[in-house]
Amino acid sequence: MKKHIAVLISGNGSNLRALINATAHADFPAHIALVISNKADAYGLKRAEAAGIPTIVIQHKDFTSREAFDARLQEALLAHQIQIVCLAGFMRLLSPGFVKLWEGRMLNIHPSLLPAFKGLDAIGQAWKAGVKETGCTVHLVTEEMDSGEILLQEKVTILPGDTYETLAQRIHAAEHRIYPEALKLLLSPPLEGGD
Ligand code: GRF
Repeated sequence: MKKHIAVLISGNGSNLRALINATAHADFPAHIALVISNKADAYGLKRAEAAGIPTIVIQHKDFTSREAFDARLQEALLAHQIQIVCLAGFMRLLSPGFVKLWEGRMLNIHPSLLPAFKGLDAIGQAWKAGVKETGCTVHLVTEEMDSGEILLQEKVTILPGDTYETLAQRIHAAEHRIYPEALKLLLSPPLEGGD
């Protein structure tokens, strides 16, 4: 039985596109049952609609507290029988109570080799720091931002002649490779037996 996943976005949704493409394969162990955006104009909503995936917009400005917003999220996830949540450029901090509900079942993608360059503009942080290598990470979401168990990382070397844009492009391409792989890893049953 394929797991029902929800993808939470705020913008472009290129990682959503990568997940849509991967989950379209018959042997992928999950399918996207819902896309939620906290922004009504997120381009990712169009990608979801084009793929025939149900979408919901939940705007934080309509709620008086983070907890009330998260309660609405939870209601939507339950209504769609969601089992795994994938954050993909979702620019909202989630309340500790909500994170706890999805412990071990909520993933995030971050454009650096965590634990380096946590937080906003991780590509810019790496670029300014002048490191030789950066990359991207898929990790489980815990209360502390960008700090949960790492599922998969891909390194990206900063090349002579790179600009911020060319570097960002290669990091995004790497993200699109590892997010579906990490999701598959999380869903793969551990090998049984051994002696
Ligand atoms: C990605 O770089 C991801 O690592 C970060 O936000 C960006 C989202 O891009 N969390 P997109 O909306 O998937 O194109």
